[in-house]
Amino acid sequence: MSKFKVIAIDGTAASGKGTLAKALAKKLGYLHLDTGSIYRAATVHIIKQGINPYDEEAVVSSVKSAIIEAKPSNNETEIYLNGENLSRSNQLRTSKISNTVPIISKYTQLREQVRKIQKSIANTNNVVMEGRDVTTVVFPDAFVKFFITASLDIRSERRMKDLQKSGEDITFEAVKNSIKKRDYDDEHRDHSPLVCPKDAIIIDNGKNTIEESVTQMLVTIKAKLDSNNLTK
Ligand code: C5P
Repeated sequence: MSKFKVIAIDGTAASGKGTLAKALAKKLGYLHLDTGSIYRAATVHIIKQGINPYDEEAVVSSVKSAIIEAKPSNNETEIYLNGENLSRSNQLRTSKISNTVPIISKYTQLREQVRKIQKSIANTNNVVMEGRDVTTVVFPDAFVKFFITASLDIRSERRMKDLQKSGEDITFEAVKNSIKKRDYDDEHRDHSPLVCPKDAIIIDNGKNTIEESVTQMLVTIKAKLDSNNLTK
């Protein structure tokens, strides 16, 4: 068994799991890894290369030749594509990337490539890792598992504000449709679909404030640490 712990978090699109994972990692002194950013980096790559996202063979081969790295920086993990730090640019979270990423994230070989990055981070760090299959496929034996939800309207409202802040002119209906479609695609793919495992603690991040959700999660983790006579 690894001497490092994984706090695994999955959840629907725009549920706020990134914000929660980040806050939790800071409080625990763990590293935060947003695995969606890795799939987003792969998407940035194929779009730059002019690859048709529906052409599985071309996508897999192109992403294989890309250098995608997750490098720890304080409590965060920054994602690099061919040497460029994408986490410090606004390329990862555009609507185009959000709408294209579920098309390519269902390809088995691409998921295996991403999984290697996830495993290697967890081999050398205590980590709060969030995504769609962290609690189920990548780390089914994670120390603690959470599943984050919020209503579609709340998620759409929050995502619309984020996109508008970054300069995108987008309507509430367009954001809502995009989130709905992304959830549907993520939940219905053959490989590693988004599901809430029985042993995950469900956090309703629509009813709760961020602080309330983080507190609820910390209480659960502390209880688990205490029951194992651990401090960290
Ligand atoms: O979390 P985020 O919204 O950034 O994820 C973007 C997309 O990446 C998801 O909609 C999903 O298609 C894909 N993803 C995945 N498995 C993960 C994380 C993200 O398939 N573990």
